[in-house]
Amino acid sequence: MSELVLDIKDLSLSFLTSGTPVSILKSVELQIAAGEIVGLVGESGSGKSVTALAISKLLPTQITTFSSGSIYFNGMDILTSSEESVAQLRGKKIGFVFQEPMTALNPTMTIGKQLFHVIRRHSDLSKEQAQAKVRAALEEVLIAKPEIVENQYPFQLSGGMRQRVVIAMAMSANPALLIADEPTTALDVTVQAEILNLIGKLAKVHGTAVLLISHDLGVIANTCSKVTVLYAGEVVETGKVSDVLRTPLHPYTQALVKSLPDIAARGSSLETIAGEFPDLRKRPEGCIYAPRCPKKFDKCSESPVLMKVDNEHSVACWAQGSRSSS
Ligand SMILES: Nc1ncnc2c1ncn2[C@@H]1O[C@H](COP(=O)(O)OP(=O)(O)OP(=O)(O)O)[C@@H](O)[C@H]1O
Ligand SMILES: [Mg+2]
Repeated sequence: MSELVLDIKDLSLSFLTSGTPVSILKSVELQIAAGEIVGLVGESGSGKSVTALAISKLLPTQITTFSSGSIYFNGMDILTSSEESVAQLRGKKIGFVFQEPMTALNPTMTIGKQLFHVIRRHSDLSKEQAQAKVRAALEEVLIAKPEIVENQYPFQLSGGMRQRVVIAMAMSANPALLIADEPTTALDVTVQAEILNLIGKLAKVHGTAVLLISHDLGVIANTCSKVTVLYAGEVVETGKVSDVLRTPLHPYTQALVKSLPDIAARGSSLETIAGEFPDLRKRPEGCIYAPRCPKKFDKCSESPVLMKVDNEHSVACWAQGSRSSS
């Protein structure tokens, strides 16, 4: 088994909101090995981006309290490391791709120049070597006519092309971990598939660990080997994508899987999940999903822990726990 690049254990954190601590993540577990693409899925507000930001210590220190757990990156304890040592990882050992590529690009500088600067910042290459690497980096992300694109400005490119450039930048330092937070959400479906294929190919070629964040289980299904399902800051299920899709165990995951267009029976309407997302300021006692859960019973007034059901398949649900132990 390859070594873990990212190992998050029992991570709980809260934000100070209007003077009151609000619990945002509770006992989050997430492991990614080199070359592995792990999906993090959950609806809006479930804590996906907060998890991504915590990994590189980008949460505002004034309002963030880590109440339990650890984040290890290549064996380095992120939460107890100094800001300087974590800053050295950002952009170099940990690359980022976000939803909107323009936020990562400078609108007033040509693509070639931006890539050149990033490559120089994170390497000891000479100007000539860095220039050659700009061309190679654009070719690697399958940009046709890189010699033209090098001299263009971001606004001259399509959204998909811009995202390719951002991926080229993020990968140029050969990071051990790539965090892609909704990288294709702003793109149309065909471009989405191309970008996801590209991320998959790069991870394989370079042995990069990838955390692919999406609210869309379909995106995860086609790209990742494993998936972690987050609900209101808690991991409700995790496992191999094939297992989780074929045999979702948590009622929340079951609802997500049912709402996948490819999986829902043809002609049937898409399921929407009844009830409302919880108000994190009043995190209910017991199972966080219980207020919306069609299968809840007495035991659900207690918090379930993540229980191993199968080799790599775990679920935080009392209904499953009682079934598997019976
Ligand atoms: N700076 C902040 N201060 C206070 N609360 C915050 C802050 N950033 C995020 N939150 C809260 O943390 C929770 C998790 O937010 P997060 O952005 O991680 O969700 P997400 O899963 O990425 O959602 P989306 O799919 O909309 O991107 C939400 O309740 C959000 O309101
Ligand atoms: Mg987000």
